[in-house]
Amino acid sequence: MTLNIGCLNLTKEILKSNSKYNFNTSIFEIHNECFPENNHVQQTHIDTIINMCTNQFSKLLINKDNKELIGYILILVGGRYTEDGYSSIADEKYCILFNIGIKKEYQNKKIGFTYLKKVMDEIRFYNFNTQLIVREDNLRAQRVYKKLNFIQERVIENHFQNININGLVYTNNNNRM
Ligand SMILES: CC(C)(COP(=O)(O)OP(=O)(O)OC[C@H]1O[C@@H](n2cnc3c(N)ncnc32)[C@H](O)[C@@H]1OP(=O)(O)O)[C@@H](O)C(=O)NCCC(=O)NCCS
Repeated sequence: MTLNIGCLNLTKEILKSNSKYNFNTSIFEIHNECFPENNHVQQTHIDTIINMCTNQFSKLLINKDNKELIGYILILVGGRYTEDGYSSIADEKYCILFNIGIKKEYQNKKIGFTYLKKVMDEIRFYNFNTQLIVREDNLRAQRVYKKLNFIQERVIENHFQNININGLVYTNNNNRM
């Protein structure tokens, strides 16, 4: 069966509890499903990040047939990672792909690639470079990023300390000088 997917910009309006979009799943729930190793992270922390990422590039993906929230793409505009990768510093030439998560039952159906490509096309239009950090063992995500012209810039040893895994900094460079 063909999926009927909708893509909404992540706005402050959508996040309001009385929004007309009354999703039965939250970004936080999808985040926990996608990143079980991060289940200790408080919802307030995730909410802060989500709020920092309300802009035209960040997206919510929905299954239009049942109005289910099935994924999110969180972009921070105007920043890049610090050398240690634990926070960001202001840089008007950069965006950060903070996070992308697709609900498990919808993974591996080209949804991540298709909608991240749409986001990257929009970002390219504004000539931002984009950075992200991915787990060294997350080969599926790396496959998607490489197909979208991200290049590995450096390795941050043991970046994911709680699971002893290196982080790879990937950059998609639009040559904005
Ligand atoms: C990573 C994620 C966003 C990708 O979205 P998706 O819709 O599942 O992925 P797609 O179907 O678009 O593409 C997956 C690609 O990886 C490939 N792939 C799948 N498993 C793989 C593996 N173990 N190793 C290498 N490649 C793999 C697929 O073959 C496909 O490539 P292809 O289209 O060239 O054949 C999604 O799986 C997800 O939310 N995962 C959990 C959260 C996560 O890891 N987020 C990224 C954090 S940096």
